[in-house]
Amino acid sequence: MADRKSKPLKPVKPILECRGITKVFGSGEIEIKVLKGVDMQLRPGELTLLMGPSGSGKTTLLSILGCILSPTAGELVINGMTTKGRDAEGLADLRRKQVGFVFQSYNLFPTLTALENVVLALDVRGGAYTNASAQAEAALRAVGLGHRLHAYPKKLSGGEKQRVAIARALAGTPAVILADEPTAALDSENGKAVMALLSEVAKDPTRAVLAVTHDHRTLAYADRIIRIEDGRIVDQRRAEDGTEGRNSHVEAA
Ligand SMILES: Nc1ncnc2c1ncn2[C@@H]1O[C@H](COP(=O)(O)OP(=O)(O)O)[C@@H](O)[C@H]1O
Ligand SMILES: [Mg+2]
Repeated sequence: MADRKSKPLKPVKPILECRGITKVFGSGEIEIKVLKGVDMQLRPGELTLLMGPSGSGKTTLLSILGCILSPTAGELVINGMTTKGRDAEGLADLRRKQVGFVFQSYNLFPTLTALENVVLALDVRGGAYTNASAQAEAALRAVGLGHRLHAYPKKLSGGEKQRVAIARALAGTPAVILADEPTAALDSENGKAVMALLSEVAKDPTRAVLAVTHDHRTLAYADRIIRIEDGRIVDQRRAEDGTEGRNSHVEAA
């Protein structure tokens, strides 16, 4: 934590930046404006938490940042590449190369081992992975699962399953890791271990990690906290010493 505290606040080129993101579902009388002009950045080497009430637009925003969903308006730039002018295939290509996802419910294939789940993710990314198996194994070792390579999901604890999911997200070294309530299905101990792992993963200076969370125990692991309410960012601040408020300060955008 000490090194984070002394981190200078000089401007850095964000890994991900979005401007004026809006999202409207439906049309006419059943039109729902879910995002109302979101500007935000994810910085290299940081774990950012996105917090807000249920229904405030967190999952919608995450889906847009991860190029799963197109915004109604606004621009997204990931690792210097804009989403503007990209068709569905172009967006999918950006997602495969630049984004790794972690979900609350792990989303592992039950008929594949831990290793096979990660290898499959490398296949899906479509890169020229000459040794996908070795890369997948390295990713699993990095999350502390070197001894569980050949285990099927049903033999893994919730915490272990989420670590496989994090290894899968890391495989192929995407610039952005997006996690939607990654600790929501875990007990306190495993939740903490998963947050500690995500904060380690975020220390890579070529990467940024964003985790949606309701869980205030996750605050201790954050470098930055963004709050969303009713489709608008209401606060963005740097976390210091893992505490909120008193020791934090709001930065100019
Ligand atoms: N595909 C969709 N069609 C219509 N409304 C949606 C869709 N997805 C989400 N919404 C609505 O958008 C709002 C925000 O949802 P969501 O992004 O899931 O919020 P959160 O993750 O913060 O709980 C909710 O009111 C939800 O019902
Ligand atoms: Mg959600």
